[in-house]
Amino acid sequence: MTVADTLLASARTMEVEIPVVVARRRRVTADIVRLWLIGVDARPLPSWTPGAHIDVLLPNGTERQYSLCGDPSDEEWSIMVLREPQGRGGSQYVHDAVWTGQKLKVRGPRNHFALDPAPRYRFLAGGIGITPILPMLREAEAAGAEWSLTYCGRSRQGMACAEELTVGHGGRVRLHVDSEQGVPDVAALLSDPRPGELLYACGPNSMLEAIERMGAHWPKGSIHFERFSAVTRDTTADTEFEVELASSGKVLTVPADRSILDVVRESGIQMLSSCQEGTCGTCETAVVSGQVDHRDAVLSKEEQEENEVMMVCVSRAACPRLVLDL
Ligand code: FES
Repeated sequence: MTVADTLLASARTMEVEIPVVVARRRRVTADIVRLWLIGVDARPLPSWTPGAHIDVLLPNGTERQYSLCGDPSDEEWSIMVLREPQGRGGSQYVHDAVWTGQKLKVRGPRNHFALDPAPRYRFLAGGIGITPILPMLREAEAAGAEWSLTYCGRSRQGMACAEELTVGHGGRVRLHVDSEQGVPDVAALLSDPRPGELLYACGPNSMLEAIERMGAHWPKGSIHFERFSAVTRDTTADTEFEVELASSGKVLTVPADRSILDVVRESGIQMLSSCQEGTCGTCETAVVSGQVDHRDAVLSKEEQEENEVMMVCVSRAACPRLVLDL
């Protein structure tokens, strides 16, 4: 999907809150629950493609992003939620207070991790990062592409769907269990890229950073990431800059300790946001001119270099004035 397509898709869906009902709930591992969602009054849900995620608006006021992990041809959506005791409360709420029959609201789906057509794929998943990969395997299989998956986890018991993946796909799926085999050798997992091969990886930041570091020998644009947590940046040297709103010509000053999102909202313009840490893509905004200091975990390196869009909740200017399509 091109950036323009992504923008168009976002524009169509991000404003809309969709009421859904939890049709089923199942505990997948001790720390992961799976929810199946259907539209209220059996209203059909929007279509989606592998790699897409939704915002789930929880009754306790938190919003969280979860990858859709079912089959796009199903009428229901499915997500898996890992309990994160050190998180901000969203996953704990899902585990402790979301049951079959409960009504929720969702936004999306959005997809910044779409599967590009290719003759062969290498998938790397760490922990709950398996969720966006599951529908990708189906799509790769349906397209007749060659594919392999390495699925890493701390313990066998904590890995969702591990058994069905290995039983269903034979030699193409390799499990790496840290408690049995030690830390995975990321360099070995990235060895010998084959002609036309694309790599899709989702998992903890440490794993994705290792892939980024050690995957420099892969052709440009062949490695795709989906991150669940924000990229850590040193903000101590941040400085003030200006943002010009293209529609009105209005110029706003963004102080060193504020985000573009905050300042634009303060000026009276409504902007939707969700994660506010650069991981969901909800606040994606088109750049008319000026160089962006990209700090999000959504856009690929290539998309950041293209400088066509930015996440205004975290990214800043690398020039005195940015002109944004607002
Ligand atoms: S609000 Fe999620 S990326 Fe900005």
